[in-house]
Amino acid sequence: MVASSTPDISHLRADFPMLKKSMHGHPLIYLDSAATAQKPQVVIDTISQFYTENYGTVHRAVYELSVYATKAYQEVRNKIAQFLHAAKPEEIIFTRGTTESINMVAYSFGKAFVQPGDEILISEMEHHSNIVPWQLLCEDRGAILKVIPMNDHGELKLDAFERLLSPKTKLVAITHIANSLGTINPIKTMTTMAHAVGAKVLVDGAQSAPHMPLNVQDLDADFYVFSGHKMYGPTGIGVLYGKEALLNAMPPYQGGGDMIDTVTFEKTTYNVLPMKFEAGTPMIAEVLGLGAAIEYLQNAGLNKIQQWEHTLLEHATQGLQTIKSLRLIGTAAQKSAILSFIVEGAHPLDIGTMLDLHGVAIRTGHLCAQPTMRHFGVSSLARASFAFYNTKREIDTFVAALDKVVRLLR
Ligand SMILES: Cc1ncc(COP(=O)(O)O)c(C=O)c1O
Repeated sequence: MVASSTPDISHLRADFPMLKKSMHGHPLIYLDSAATAQKPQVVIDTISQFYTENYGTVHRAVYELSVYATKAYQEVRNKIAQFLHAAKPEEIIFTRGTTESINMVAYSFGKAFVQPGDEILISEMEHHSNIVPWQLLCEDRGAILKVIPMNDHGELKLDAFERLLSPKTKLVAITHIANSLGTINPIKTMTTMAHAVGAKVLVDGAQSAPHMPLNVQDLDADFYVFSGHKMYGPTGIGVLYGKEALLNAMPPYQGGGDMIDTVTFEKTTYNVLPMKFEAGTPMIAEVLGLGAAIEYLQNAGLNKIQQWEHTLLEHATQGLQTIKSLRLIGTAAQKSAILSFIVEGAHPLDIGTMLDLHGVAIRTGHLCAQPTMRHFGVSSLARASFAFYNTKREIDTFVAALDKVVRLLR
């Protein structure tokens, strides 16, 4: 439980130009940060300064601009290694986002380690990005996909997980925080259980990296993945953290420039980590923008962010419980600031469309988690997700608007 002295850090919203916007004549209330987060000015400026004053490529040239870009690019890798408490910067691979990071591991780990009859475990609350790549891998390698079930609060059943684990389990891929339910999974317990049977663990950190302090070594995650755009950085950039020995044992995902050591028509040898997994000219501006976002988050303080967002979660949960016939979907004991719900007699799509007319942006639909929808017997949800830049007053306005909207719709 968070003490009443929780710091209100929502004044930081002044750093976010988009949050000054009006929508349909109302101040914008942005409650869709789980889908993508707004950007502080420093991220926008970092990207635009790079293009206007310092633009050049990385790795390939001796001239000043390229040397600058290469150094700045590498510094972001160092910063991310520190942010995640990785053992080495070489364990940080830049990708286009969580989706690409997971596909990369499915392809490359799969090729190196997965044989016919082997098993991959995922959970019932995964985003489609942490389901489909494993289905593709299993089809390709003749492996078997198994699913860790959850209870009706949206908590994983650890006893069932224990029973599913066996020496056949090659990899467990689980989300740290479920995007549709807000559940925070007990990753450390789960990595210990998986490692006891020799399985590796990939953690989908898309919803956790922006909202809590992370230590991949303490969690003992073998792979940890996230997206820049959900953590106040640009789109088109993400991270794959992997333990060095594992990444070294895995084949490249893509071939091309930068990932090679020598090329002849007979045989190519590959570059060392991290370049082995970064073929082609990378997303340089996006990496620099992500670096600025991470620095911004560190200055704000991940502990303070987590505490303030928890206060927002409690405030919003109380508010939503005042709406007649509203059912919260996702009531785990350990939750992040994500609230999904349905209201009897009002379709989520109509709720979302009408809230927009009040300036309130929420997400509606299957939330890229159709198996989760199926568990709860729904095809669609309304979801409000909060970030540190949200205020209690915004939540009060949202709840009042929702009350009006559902009265109209019923
Ligand atoms: C838990 C989770 N995993 C994966 C993803 C996919 O992220 P991206 O679309 O940035 O690759 C998301 C995005 O919503 C997510 O919430």
